[in-house]
Amino acid sequence: MLTILVTGSKGQLGSEIQELSSNYPNINFLFTDIEELDICSADAIKTYTLDKPIDYIINCAAYTNVDQAEKNEEKARQINSEAVKNLASIAIEKGITLIHISTDYVFSGKNYTPYTEQDKAEPSGIYGKTKFEGEEFVRKICPKHIIIRTSWLYSPFGKNFLKTMLTLGKDKKELGVVVDQIGTPTYAYDLATCILTIINNSIKEISEYGTYHYSNEGVCSWFDFATDIQSIAKNKCNIKSIESKDFQTFAKRPYYSVLNKSKIKHIFAIEIPHWKSRIEHCIRRITE
Ligand SMILES: NC(=O)c1ccc[n+]([C@@H]2O[C@H](COP(=O)([O-])OP(=O)(O)OC[C@H]3O[C@@H](n4cnc5c(N)ncnc54)[C@H](OP(=O)(O)O)[C@@H]3O)[C@@H](O)[C@H]2O)c1
Repeated sequence: MLTILVTGSKGQLGSEIQELSSNYPNINFLFTDIEELDICSADAIKTYTLDKPIDYIINCAAYTNVDQAEKNEEKARQINSEAVKNLASIAIEKGITLIHISTDYVFSGKNYTPYTEQDKAEPSGIYGKTKFEGEEFVRKICPKHIIIRTSWLYSPFGKNFLKTMLTLGKDKKELGVVVDQIGTPTYAYDLATCILTIINNSIKEISEYGTYHYSNEGVCSWFDFATDIQSIAKNKCNIKSIESKDFQTFAKRPYYSVLNKSKIKHIFAIEIPHWKSRIEHCIRRITE
């Protein structure tokens, strides 16, 4: 029986792994969030892992508020970078495989073609910088790792763009949404499925460690995503396209952050659904 420690398990991705866990009776899941295991404390990690036969750690914990990170660099660095170093250190010490989640924000957003794992990371904001530092600790300290960079995560849990659009779309007649930022939404349920498939198909040992990209298939703007959300939810709200310059945010957003998923699809035989086909599933879970 495999034992998997999931950190940050009350967030979007962690909650989806919890939802899916009953499909894996052969896996013993240890779900923790900051109350049970604060990953910023190396001592707490040591104590928690002392007498547990852990095979994998899936690190879903992160400081994900991109705008707040600009004002709270120290906290963002503690969680996205220093705490990841703690996890990588315990993983190497105990022979555990570390699955760590990162972000499209490690890239500058200046590309015109989907980012591959070989493309240079050039984060422009604190969130992206601290997430990249975390990645580097994992690569340096713990050879038995999988880093998965993902983008535009949404789910029925926590705060995300889809849930905001559903709420606003019920009351408002019109909403302006940016059309000049291009990427791909990722249904956290699909990413959770992908992670558990990789582990489940690998028996005890993952075939190829390293850095991977995962989002749903396809490409869109936030305007396209918002339009589909309102249409599928049958909201009457009109989505109007606006430019980024007319929607100021504290942190700079990448203009283009589409991820190339060829590597993860090829190595782990993962099939990835198109972003357009997954919105309905998520909305149904929220509204039912
Ligand atoms: N959200 C996106 O659009 C997006 C896009 C690309 C990549 N990602 C990456 O995908 C991963 C999962 O994101 P998500 O949206 O599921 O994140 P999330 O919903 O913000 O969940 C993160 C969880 O980690 C917890 N946490 C924070 N500090 C902790 C600590 N010191 N120890 C243990 N737990 C702690 C959080 O608790 P609190 O809520 O109490 O802080 C929260 O429950 C992250 O690595 C993120 O960087 C996210």
